[in-house]
Amino acid sequence: MDDKRQGLTFAPAAGSGVNTKSNDFMSNRTLTMIKPDAMKKGYAGAILDMIIKGGFRIVALKQIQLSAEKAAEFYAVHKERPFYGELVEFMSSGPIIAAILEKENAVADFRALIGATDPAKAEKGTIRKLYASSVGENAVHGSDSDANAKIEADFFFSSLERF
Ligand code: CMP
Repeated sequence: MDDKRQGLTFAPAAGSGVNTKSNDFMSNRTLTMIKPDAMKKGYAGAILDMIIKGGFRIVALKQIQLSAEKAAEFYAVHKERPFYGELVEFMSSGPIIAAILEKENAVADFRALIGATDPAKAEKGTIRKLYASSVGENAVHGSDSDANAKIEADFFFSSLERF
């Protein structure tokens, strides 16, 4: 092998299969939460089945109950919205499942699988159409951009918890 490494700086060749930019790592990943409403109603298994059948690989997964402080931190981007207090209270009201999902075009494809934020506007066959009851209690979360997917994945998971 023609090893061009110099000292400790090793730059993998393009196409070598090794990520060369930190952003590449998350461009095919998204963060989901199965929210307390869906957990309480026993929909977690059916939702995970739809996610896997939708072609997403589970990179990391945990069941956890957020404190009000951690829910407020996760949704801090919405803190000026009138529904923020309600959202924080609801998201800390019971256990959730958080997961990092991997698929080509993960953020957009996952948002298509879950449907519109308001289940009344969600397409037939989407997770929210099937399992959500209102805009507040809408069964699942999906990251809205690659940048937020990385922030949200880092919120829940260390590198040792990703496979
Ligand atoms: P999510 O995709 O997790 O991102 C922000 C959340 O805020 C959203 O899903 C909804 O659960 C919640 N949300 C958005 N709009 C409203 C609203 N008008 N009333 C209550 N909750 C809302």
